[in-house]
Amino acid sequence: MRNDAIGVFDSGMGGLTAVKELNAILPHENIIYFGDTARIPYGSRSPETVLRYAEEDAAFLRRHAVKMIIAACGTVSSVVADRPFITDLPFTGVVLPASLAACAATRNGKVGIIGTPATVRSGSYEKAIRKQNPEISVTAQACPLFVHLVENGYTDFHNPVTRLVAEEYLDLVRRAGVDTLILGCTHYPVIREIIADLMGEDVTLISSGAEAAKYARHCLEQQDLLTDRQTAGENTYYVSDSTELFIENVENFLQQDVVGKVFRCSL
Ligand code: DGL
Repeated sequence: MRNDAIGVFDSGMGGLTAVKELNAILPHENIIYFGDTARIPYGSRSPETVLRYAEEDAAFLRRHAVKMIIAACGTVSSVVADRPFITDLPFTGVVLPASLAACAATRNGKVGIIGTPATVRSGSYEKAIRKQNPEISVTAQACPLFVHLVENGYTDFHNPVTRLVAEEYLDLVRRAGVDTLILGCTHYPVIREIIADLMGEDVTLISSGAEAAKYARHCLEQQDLLTDRQTAGENTYYVSDSTELFIENVENFLQQDVVGKVFRCSL
């Protein structure tokens, strides 16, 4: 089992922010990625629908004999946070790892959260933070357009559309004086440079995808499930709709040649 792949899923390319970190910290692991591009966005849907999608996504990954599943999606992680979701395999979402990192990072006790409408409505990050430290004050803002901007490649540091949208969305957390901001949707670290520029250098940004990857390494270490292969691991990608845009996104964000590694599948 230790040489089986790590399964990662998201509604689209956001989970690649976890994959990038996994590739950096666990370079010998194989990764199977599923992006549910036919049904994106998840963040504007009801908890019941998101849960059904998440169950189908996880079932798809299980067909590839994975040793661990990462829900690299803030929306899914929020919906499954209070229920038993995957209990027979090592599993993590992004909410707990990112919340722990934010609690460790804040110095003034003011943490901001940006995420999808479903994530913000669920209050999942607040609950996880308050459990760690009830003294921390939390300000949350939904940023629904970010996912579409990222999926469509509006990610350049100077992109005027993304900057304008970001200025409006970040106004609340800026005024709240947070010193730590959780990028609670895994798509958002793709426009990290723009967010960092608007928040200022004194604000620590927490990538929910990257934190989930670090947490996954910890889980695999604990359970003695890290691969013993010494050769470079491979990433294989599946999407539920056309592959063109996804390939472009992977190549831009991961700077990887993915020829022959991206497949269209049905659930
Ligand atoms: N990347 C996702 C998240 O972290 C999903 C965004 C969406 O599909 O709305 O919430």
